[in-house]
Amino acid sequence: MRVTRAGIIEDGRAVALDFADGVRARFHAVWLRDNVLDAAARAPRSGQRLVSVLDLPERARLTEAEADGTAVAFAFAPDGRRLRFPAAWLHANRYDGTPRRPPGWTAPGITLWDAATLPTLPTATFDALRSDQRTLAAWLGAVRRYGVAHLSGLPCESGRVCDVAALFGYVRETNYGRFFDVRAEVDPDNLACTNRGLQAHTDNPYRDPVPTLQILACLDNDVAGGESIAVDGFMAATLLRAESADGFALLAGHCARFEYAGSRGVRLRSRRPMVELDPDGALRAVRCNNRSVAPLLDVPYERMEAYYAAYRRFVALIDSKDLAVRFRLAPSEAFLLDNTRVLHARTAFSSGGRRWLQGCYADKDGLLSTLAAIEEEMGTAV
Ligand code: FE2
Repeated sequence: MRVTRAGIIEDGRAVALDFADGVRARFHAVWLRDNVLDAAARAPRSGQRLVSVLDLPERARLTEAEADGTAVAFAFAPDGRRLRFPAAWLHANRYDGTPRRPPGWTAPGITLWDAATLPTLPTATFDALRSDQRTLAAWLGAVRRYGVAHLSGLPCESGRVCDVAALFGYVRETNYGRFFDVRAEVDPDNLACTNRGLQAHTDNPYRDPVPTLQILACLDNDVAGGESIAVDGFMAATLLRAESADGFALLAGHCARFEYAGSRGVRLRSRRPMVELDPDGALRAVRCNNRSVAPLLDVPYERMEAYYAAYRRFVALIDSKDLAVRFRLAPSEAFLLDNTRVLHARTAFSSGGRRWLQGCYADKDGLLSTLAAIEEEMGTAV
């Protein structure tokens, strides 16, 4: 990548660069100073920054900007500092012209899905995931894109669900333990441990932050019923927005409350929206769990009925057949889901026979980090 023209603008407060591919982008002097790439500005081993924002001149001005082959050379007032930036780096890190996007937009790397477009979950064998980096990268890439993936061939032994987290990161331990059983119990401390059906939900919305990944592994399943269901919550939120921008804005604009107090010494409470957006409107997370909604206190009186109408429609979309990807988990199979996006459900099952699942939580940032590191090593994105 080359810069064909560099022109100082706005009295030296910024520079406009024309790139060889026709892109034009402006960069502020203060931004260039802050992003100095010189080796002396970074720790040699970690690449971590050594420069604080307080080290920057308060009124940085550009005095020279010269396209120089595949780099651009700059000089700054008031200290006469000279910096060079590769043109390709500037092109890749340009911020001018960020598009305006509607609330609830999703990045191109995220593919929304429903029962028709994702009839079966992306899958791999546990052995291949452990022994082959490309298989692991493709599988983690599926989690990044769809928020869900399946695996088979996990040894049918208690606790092995944690080995799935170890493929890319670490177990997140909670009051439920390092891992937990999901099977029918007498007088359980959680409705998950009965043979009732469970409406599609995200786990633990009463935590802040929520566990961002959940893994569920099957050790036994010979009951009638007990099918698993995955639903793309981002798809449901997007459909809601298409139907009612106001309903979407209500769920995104007001906090819901969630709580869990089902065991001694535990009083978990959170106050977060059911549809969470980043400051620029990007869809960040959904939280939806009928079992743990607490009284809603943060919606203005005038909007409460409209809020409930939107909430009800959101749950109806989540529950609709069109969105549900159904599958029966057999012993030695497991699935991993992004708990900030994908809801899971199960159908009721007979009280005769056995259904034994084990679950554990893990962190999405660790998964994304492992995937990015493998991609960098392979020199290609999956
Ligand atoms: Fe759950």
